[in-house]
Amino acid sequence: MILVTGATGTVGRAVVDRLRALGQPVRALTRRPETAGLPGDIEVVRGDLGVPEDISAALTDVDRVFLLTAGPEIPGHDANLAAAAAASGVRRIVKLSSGRVDDATATDPIPAWHRAGEAAVRESGIPWTMLRPLGFMSNALHWAGAVRAQDTVLAPFGQGRIAVVDAGDIAAVATESLIGAGHEGRSYTLSGPQALSPGEQTEILAEVLGRPLRYVETAPAEARAALLSFGVEPEMADAIMALRATALESFTSVVHPAVEAVTGRPPRSFREWAVEHRAEFAA
Ligand SMILES: NC(=O)c1ccc[n+]([C@@H]2O[C@H](COP(=O)([O-])OP(=O)(O)OC[C@H]3O[C@@H](n4cnc5c(N)ncnc54)[C@H](OP(=O)(O)O)[C@@H]3O)[C@@H](O)[C@H]2O)c1
Repeated sequence: MILVTGATGTVGRAVVDRLRALGQPVRALTRRPETAGLPGDIEVVRGDLGVPEDISAALTDVDRVFLLTAGPEIPGHDANLAAAAAASGVRRIVKLSSGRVDDATATDPIPAWHRAGEAAVRESGIPWTMLRPLGFMSNALHWAGAVRAQDTVLAPFGQGRIAVVDAGDIAAVATESLIGAGHEGRSYTLSGPQALSPGEQTEILAEVLGRPLRYVETAPAEARAALLSFGVEPEMADAIMALRATALESFTSVVHPAVEAVTGRPPRSFREWAVEHRAEFAA
């Protein structure tokens, strides 16, 4: 049995769908099974990664774990899972980490949280694989409201380029790491096929949507205020803004070979992602 945490989120849901399509036994963890929206044939368990008893119960008969944690709780939740997994005989953990972990110069909160989480997983003694994606293509969904209402992409750090990656490709690497051989003790930095600035992403979106869009660079303070207006906690908003600022560094614009090396096919392009999500940007 494979336990998937973060199963209702962007990457975790894609991992559930892939494992299900392959006929693998999956158990999905969520704090709210009633609104999880997972397929009816998936075993869904209620659990909070902050509650060790919940995790121990969810790990019954589990031999592999896809570990997704988020926000300032990453170190504590990863440590909780790692300890319970070691006690219950789990034989493999695939942790969703952050590409910035690999950047020695990164001192902002999110890579620091993931470094601590990775350390807890390694110290558990359970064979592990670390997935370290750069920015997600799906972050562009934050632009959808302004695109729908004003044909405008509002985003800070216009000079920054990120080799954004599709959540489906992260899930494909996760699935292979969970069920394939040779991934133990490996850390994969995951990128898409091309580094893009927000302006270049705007051009691609406009072509796909078939209508002109403009890119307007916002001040970081405006972008932070927008996060708060979406209900993001101030500590998390500061961490996200610190991470976004690093788009101006060269690290995030490097294209990495791991998606193709692990899955045998090239990573999906932002254009393919945009075609799949065009309805969310429709006027
Ligand atoms: N966005 C990026 O560009 C990017 C880039 C690199 C790495 N990452 C990393 O990717 C991860 C986020 O992935 P995502 O965007 O797929 O997540 P997401 O869509 O934000 O979903 C978060 C998931 O975490 C679960 N969750 C939150 N608190 C929980 C708790 N206390 N107990 C149990 N489950 C809990 C939620 O489940 P319920 O609400 O159903 O309980 C939900 O399924 C983070 O670790 C982030 O650092 C993101």
